[in-house]
Amino acid sequence: MIVTENLTKIYTVGAPVRALDGVTLEIAAGEFVAVTGPSGSGKSTLLNLIGTLDRPTSGRIVVDGVDVGTLRGNALADFRRERIGFVFQMFHLVPTLTALENVMLPLLPYRRGLRFRLEERARELLEIMGLGDRLHHLPGQLSGGEQQRVAIARALINTPKVLLADEPTGNLDSKVGMEIISLLRQLNRERGITVIVATHNPAVAREADRIIQLQDGKIVRIINRAEEA
Ligand SMILES: Nc1ncnc2c1ncn2[C@@H]1O[C@H](COP(=O)(O)OP(=O)(O)O)[C@@H](O)[C@H]1O
Ligand SMILES: [Mg+2]
Repeated sequence: MIVTENLTKIYTVGAPVRALDGVTLEIAAGEFVAVTGPSGSGKSTLLNLIGTLDRPTSGRIVVDGVDVGTLRGNALADFRRERIGFVFQMFHLVPTLTALENVMLPLLPYRRGLRFRLEERARELLEIMGLGDRLHHLPGQLSGGEQQRVAIARALINTPKVLLADEPTGNLDSKVGMEIISLLRQLNRERGITVIVATHNPAVAREADRIIQLQDGKIVRIINRAEEA
C-alpha cells in the first residue's frame, strides 16, 4: 500500500539538517501505524512526504501503486485530493465557516452543480463523528475535541484510502485525545482506511498495530503489537 525506499529529506535553511535519513518501510493497506520519536526526529517530515505535501531529497515513495515522485502539477494535486486525508494538531479549520462548510470545503471547487450531494455527504460524516447537532456552529463555538472531529470529517470527504494524522491529540486533554484515537481506530476497522498517526504520546501509540520509532531521521525500532500480544 505504502512503500518508502531509502527516503531522505535534507533541509538547507542555514546548516543542512537531515530530517529523514534513509527511511525504508512498508505499510500494508488497512494498517493502523503510529510514528513516534522525540521532537525533531522527523515524524512530520515523514507524514508530509507520504502525503505528497513535500518532496524528498532522494529516495522513492509508492502510495497505492503510484510512484508519487513521478507526479507533477495537477496530477499531484488530484492524487492528493483523491487518496489522502490529513488531520493536524491545530485542526486548521477556517474560523469564518461553519462545521458543515469546513467539511465541504476541500471538494467545493470540484463539485459545481453537485453541491447538494456534497452537502448531504458532509452532513452524514459529521453525524458519524457525533456532531449532528453542531452542523452550523463556527469552530470558535466548538470544543477542541469537537473541532478535531470536524477536521476528521473534512479529511474523509474525499473518501481517502490513507489518513495521515500529525499529533492529532497534541492540543487535547488526554481523555478527549483518546476519544479521537478511538474514532480513528473505528474508521480504520470499519472502512479499511490506512491510518498513520505521528505522536509522542505513548498511550496513543499503544493503540496502533505497529509502532515505528524514529530518532534523528532514522528508524531505530519497529514494534509489532499484534506479535507482542
Ligand atoms: N521546513 C523546514 N525547514 C527547515 N528545517 C525543517 C523544516 N521542517 C522540519 N525541519 C527540521 O527537520 C527536523 C525534523 O523535523 P520534524 O519532521 O518536524 O520532526 P518531528 O515532527 O518529529 O518533531 C528538525 O530538525 C526540524 O527542525
Ligand atoms: Mg511534528
